[in-house]
Amino acid sequence: MTAKLLLLPGDGIGPEVSAQVRRVLDWLAKNRNFAFDLDEDLVGGISLEKTGLPITDKAMEKAMAADAVLFGAVGGPQWDKNAFDKKPERGLLRLRKDMELFANLRPALCFPALTDASSLKPELVSGLDIMIVRELTGGVYFGEPRGIEKLADGSRKAVDTQLYTTEEVRRIARVAFDLARKRGGVVHSAEKSNVMHTGVLWREEVTHVHETEYEDLKLIHILADNAAMQLVRNPKQFDVLVTDNLFGDILSDEASMLTGSLGMLPSASLGAKDAKTGKSKALYEPIHGSAPDIAGQNKANPIAAILSLAMCLRYSLDDEAGAKLLEDAVSSVLNAGLRTGDIMQAGKTAVSTTGMGDAILKALDSAAR
Ligand code: IPM
Ligand code: MG
Repeated sequence: MTAKLLLLPGDGIGPEVSAQVRRVLDWLAKNRNFAFDLDEDLVGGISLEKTGLPITDKAMEKAMAADAVLFGAVGGPQWDKNAFDKKPERGLLRLRKDMELFANLRPALCFPALTDASSLKPELVSGLDIMIVRELTGGVYFGEPRGIEKLADGSRKAVDTQLYTTEEVRRIARVAFDLARKRGGVVHSAEKSNVMHTGVLWREEVTHVHETEYEDLKLIHILADNAAMQLVRNPKQFDVLVTDNLFGDILSDEASMLTGSLGMLPSASLGAKDAKTGKSKALYEPIHGSAPDIAGQNKANPIAAILSLAMCLRYSLDDEAGAKLLEDAVSSVLNAGLRTGDIMQAGKTAVSTTGMGDAILKALDSAAR
């Protein structure tokens, strides 16, 4: 089978880390009989500059037809003042919504070589392995009504709507339980059922899915603010953490930083399985943003993007061995002491984006030998 892939490098450091992903794809093609058909298109600020839109219909069509989309990053200060529908981020949000990528998997994994890079004590984070499952197509990100309105007295009013339905909660809960079954068997579900109706519904529906389909697993309900606190107090108590779109946005940034660097972590956004093909639409992206302050300087860490490709092999292309190969190559260059600026430590060897790419390809070569 030839995998149909769409690369959307986007803005800031997106193109630089995507270039390293391309090199790894070429390596896979040469060394693992991995056939792919790679297309590339615009998203975000660069798309706004060239087409007037954060993503075009044509790029959307390609994304819908792809086995997987490999996404870089979007955004930058030059577009901060843009109207809402002309913000680079709208490109990403349209991809999520139109492809119905409701399940966002964000692993927070502490690489042994980086235990000291965390802002928490090493014993709190060594061996840390949390999977955050964030609902991605509902909640306050998309709920209607939304907008800013002018009132009669000249002042203004802004509204966003937090909205969840039974099915939206049940399907994300199932993703979390399915993952937990292959991991430590424990799911924490975070909401604010003490103040929000959506929180009450969330808690009840997750409980229902647990009682009817996953009684063998452990479910722990936790208020989202307490989850934020527990993540820095004792992060290793978590295995799978499932939560809504907004809490997931915040808690996943927090969890990722526990591991030492945002620059290290990949993510997968998955849709429902197609009844006929059994395949899901999918988009893979590093968790880090476009980092405009270091863009174009060959300083960015390409590891999160390369690990996102590993997730793509695992979840979209049914190639667990290929995924492991990439993950092991990353571990080995870290163990050898190579570091980009974001994870630099005393006594280690500083490398550039392309330098890190070179090292990972070399590690792949020696693993293949
Ligand atoms: C993320 C980002 C996005 C979000 C932005 C870029 C729209 O922060 O993927 O976590 O808020 O979902
Ligand atoms: Mg975020």
